[in-house]
Amino acid sequence: MDSKAFADEMAAQVAEFCQQFKDQPPAYSYIPLTEDAQRTKVMQARLWNEVRAAEVLGSWIKTTPERDVKATMAESAHEEFKHAALLEQVLRDKGVEPYDYEPLPAQAAMFNAFESQTGTVERMAAFPLAGEGVADFLIGLSLEPGTNLPEWVRSPYRAIHEDEEGHGSYPQEVLAKYASTPEQQARVRRAVAMSLVLRKEFFASVDRWVIEGKAW
Ligand SMILES: [Fe+2]
Ligand SMILES: [Fe+2]
Repeated sequence: MDSKAFADEMAAQVAEFCQQFKDQPPAYSYIPLTEDAQRTKVMQARLWNEVRAAEVLGSWIKTTPERDVKATMAESAHEEFKHAALLEQVLRDKGVEPYDYEPLPAQAAMFNAFESQTGTVERMAAFPLAGEGVADFLIGLSLEPGTNLPEWVRSPYRAIHEDEEGHGSYPQEVLAKYASTPEQQARVRRAVAMSLVLRKEFFASVDRWVIEGKAW
């Protein structure tokens, strides 16, 4: 399959996955939350993601031969730390210790699965395309006017959304450029599917932890 058409198909798959959250946004998006104690829990979880994202991207730099992708990974890793700093400050202002948090098992598993990808196109597919694609879709949804997000939550995510939107089509461009063989495309398909399966479980786990008060 032509790699451009293939990249478009993968992006469309992620976009379709996102649609299920439009009418039923998860706790992860902050939208269904009504109490600050719930919101700070979600923010702690999402702060953990920012730091872990930086670690994963950084760990890939050396083993990514494509210099253009390598450079973007380095930039993104730096960006993730800026996002972390924003959330960290907001949590401190709310009187919450930002790092008093253990990742939910599904959350740790999701990032470990990203990290374990070894090829450039699988990495791009699992994390920037399918992982961050869904995350940024939900940020966009939560920032829409009329959602139940107080300004202290909205404000850091406005800045984060700007960064993420800025390189929204980047993973798709990498796939169009480098996912050219049937074998690569098959691996990318699996990486996208894996990422979405784990994302779903992560969101369900945040719902149970924050809304139902379970351990995870
Ligand atoms: Fe981020
Ligand atoms: Fe990001």
